[in-house]
Amino acid sequence: MLFKNLLLQTSIVLSSLSEQGHAIPTLEKRATLDQFITSENTVALNGVLANIGPSGSKSQGAASGVVLASPSKSNPDYYYTWTRDAGLVIKALVEQFSVSKATNLQTVIQNYISANAKLQTISNPSGSLSNGAGLGEPKFNADFSAFTGAWGRPQRDGPALRATAMIAYGNWLLANGNTAAATSIVWPIVKNDLNYVAQYWNQTGFDLWEEVQGSSFFTIAASHRALVEGSAFAKKVGQSCSVCDAQASNVLCFLQKFWNGQYIDSNINVNEGRTGKDANSIISSIHVFDPAAGCDDATFQPCSPRMLANHKQVTDSFRSVYSVNSGIASSSGVAIGRYSEDVYYTGNPWYLTTLAAAEQLYDALYQFNKAGSITITDVSLAFWKAIYSSAATGTYASSSTTFKSLTSAVKTYADSYVAIVQKYTPSSGALAEQFEKSGGQPTSAADLTWSYAAFLTMTNARNNVVPPSWGAASANKVPSTCSSGGATGTYAAATNTNWASPSTPSTPTPCSAGSSIAVTFNVLAKTVYGENIYVSGSTSELGSWDPTKAVLLSASQYTNSKPLWSGSVKLSTGASVSYKYIRKSSSGAVTWESDPNRSLTVSSDCSASAPTVNDTWR
Ligand code: NOJ
Ligand code: NOJ
Repeated sequence: MLFKNLLLQTSIVLSSLSEQGHAIPTLEKRATLDQFITSENTVALNGVLANIGPSGSKSQGAASGVVLASPSKSNPDYYYTWTRDAGLVIKALVEQFSVSKATNLQTVIQNYISANAKLQTISNPSGSLSNGAGLGEPKFNADFSAFTGAWGRPQRDGPALRATAMIAYGNWLLANGNTAAATSIVWPIVKNDLNYVAQYWNQTGFDLWEEVQGSSFFTIAASHRALVEGSAFAKKVGQSCSVCDAQASNVLCFLQKFWNGQYIDSNINVNEGRTGKDANSIISSIHVFDPAAGCDDATFQPCSPRMLANHKQVTDSFRSVYSVNSGIASSSGVAIGRYSEDVYYTGNPWYLTTLAAAEQLYDALYQFNKAGSITITDVSLAFWKAIYSSAATGTYASSSTTFKSLTSAVKTYADSYVAIVQKYTPSSGALAEQFEKSGGQPTSAADLTWSYAAFLTMTNARNNVVPPSWGAASANKVPSTCSSGGATGTYAAATNTNWASPSTPSTPTPCSAGSSIAVTFNVLAKTVYGENIYVSGSTSELGSWDPTKAVLLSASQYTNSKPLWSGSVKLSTGASVSYKYIRKSSSGAVTWESDPNRSLTVSSDCSASAPTVNDTWR
């Protein structure tokens, strides 16, 4: 009887098992997929909470609000908090909390936010808060002290992900009448992270897998989302984020460069010797999923033709590299790793990437149903043909039988990825980081917090429990030419973390009329002996574009590895200034930087710290 039930209800699991010629599954594996998801979801929520200090059952000794990557202290040692993992985990918890309203979750979220107000101020090998650079540090010790060992740093996705997690809770506070906490506790922390993103998005850094120094699709996609929702959140708390507004479309423009016509090349501006097919892109798509957006290619929505094509290219790249995948039909899901060339722990499938492959498809289903149609284009046709062989280009309304066949094929296909996770999850439900490519045994870090969070978000997507919109549908206009941009951020320690009675927000102190403020110009420019670098610009203090009146910068901090020219100029508060650097040779010949002019707006908030621009000679 049990077996008959199983046949009816778990055809996916069974067919993939029998295709692989594996032995009869053990009893606990005979739960249907639905039963597995229900019970595993509880394990996953407990698994996340166990790893968060100070009272998580597996995080004794971690500071309040620390989200450990894993309790594992050796092979590998993951007893640290990564800004990326923590941001994604808290984003998932806010999603849970919005549904369950469980007060224990709210406490965890608030502890995380309070802890990060402090964490932002900790100087570390990436730098400090004064010019924002320290916000790009990838990980900290479990007591929140800086980790000073060698590491792939900076990782610029962290501030964007932290901002998104906090904005999610901030929006919940606003919607539930707690404007004071959103304004005086959440906003000052978010503001630093948004300024970081606006200032540094165009500089290279390490990818989410901490290996490749270049431009990572995930980082840029997360940056775009953070700037767009950050600007909207600022307005809701009575502030503004002008650097967000100035940079968001530049970031979106750059994001398009990762699409190579067939798939996302996940790492660019680097020659890493890989195909670029990487779960990076699938995780990006679920991160930028917006339930109010259409199947938009420009913002890489889960249902977009580009991201469906990419889903097939990335998932197919794992079919032949793991023996757990051998013999599985191309219409069925497989175990997914980070990227096929991976050698970390010999290169295995990961739970969180396999779950992400499912989640993208559940998100896409939500979007198809909401749109009321599916359009198959030349770009997405191969994806569709693999799961529905008679698929053809065209638009299919939800009333058509083709729409029903297509959506049912996507659902079955998505479920088949979760069935892979079910198959390789031990009966305890514990989710490690990886499972072995040949035998499927859990390996690398045990109880990976991110694995559990990935299970929670997959489950919600499968149940059509979707997060609020972040504004993708009105932030998808790609400028015709990309500007490299990079605004100058202002940073200040966030000091208010009293959730019981958040004080009224501090208002900016307007500068008095006619005042000026010293702006520091830093530019990296290689020079030969006898050459000097000047800053020239549109205002009288910068010589009104007359090169003979430009301001000479100092080379006192110049080194071969960091060719820094620097100087301060007093500029009128509130002024909009255009500028460029010029180079003068020993004979007096002047070379201007290439176009366009650079620009900055001098703050008119005299309580903020003095601004600095960090540029590189063009
Ligand atoms: C540790 C990082 O966390 C991991 O992503 C990377 O693959 C290994 N170091 C090897 O560089
Ligand atoms: C290695 C992963 O590659 C990276 O993405 C993650 O942040 C750390 N492990 C911690 O989980």
